[in-house]
Amino acid sequence: MRVVVAKDYKEMCALAADEIEAEVRRDPRCTLGLATGSSPVGMYQELSRRCKEEGLDFSQVHSVNLDEYVGLEPSHDQSYRYFMNDNLFDHINIDKANTYVAKGVGDVEENLREFNAVLDASDVAIQVLGVGPDGHLGFNEPGDTLYDGAHKEVLDESTIDANARFFATRDDVPRYALTMGMGNIMRARKLLLIISGSKKDAAAKLLMQDRIDPHCPATFLRLHRDAVVFLEQSLADEIGYKG
Ligand code: GLP
Repeated sequence: MRVVVAKDYKEMCALAADEIEAEVRRDPRCTLGLATGSSPVGMYQELSRRCKEEGLDFSQVHSVNLDEYVGLEPSHDQSYRYFMNDNLFDHINIDKANTYVAKGVGDVEENLREFNAVLDASDVAIQVLGVGPDGHLGFNEPGDTLYDGAHKEVLDESTIDANARFFATRDDVPRYALTMGMGNIMRARKLLLIISGSKKDAAAKLLMQDRIDPHCPATFLRLHRDAVVFLEQSLADEIGYKG
């Protein structure tokens, strides 16, 4: 696992965008695994800028997203499909038909079958990740055991608290989500974790220790052959990370 300490959020997003750009230029038909949440927003803005101003071409790129809330229509402004359109797809020349976000409404079992089939057929070149305050990746919540494939998760109370800021009230936050499993994440050829935002210190600290802990799913990155973790200098200082 490679750790990159950036001086601030802007630099971190530019460095993360460099990784995506290198892959898209190397293989214009690659599949990107994408994530929602505030952490990757700056990277998406930078990629949008590079597409518009520097000709970074997404026209043949495919994508598959980590997760989706159960119960939100794609048109709901807090659905992850809406987020992806709003923060990235509407600003780059990707063909939306080549982008996949699991369906949050309709028959859950059918949606999971489709999600797993898409994942089985995808060779994800880079999986973008953020981390929850409890160390969750996608919506893989901490537990004694973790899932391999895509599945339905019951969200932890701390995750509902963390994501309540995006909804009118805490009660509006969905209680369930469909998410890639840890196996799906680990099978991507490269992992790119952007640690940003408040209350990430505990998860970041655990990640820097030589331990794999299912109670902090982010620690599984240590097992991956090509995982890159980005954090800001301020967080590195806070957790006493010296490199
Ligand atoms: C949600 C998403 C995760 C994301 C996490 C952190 O729970 N399912 O994929 O990493 O939030 O979000 P943020 O980057 O907003 O802190």
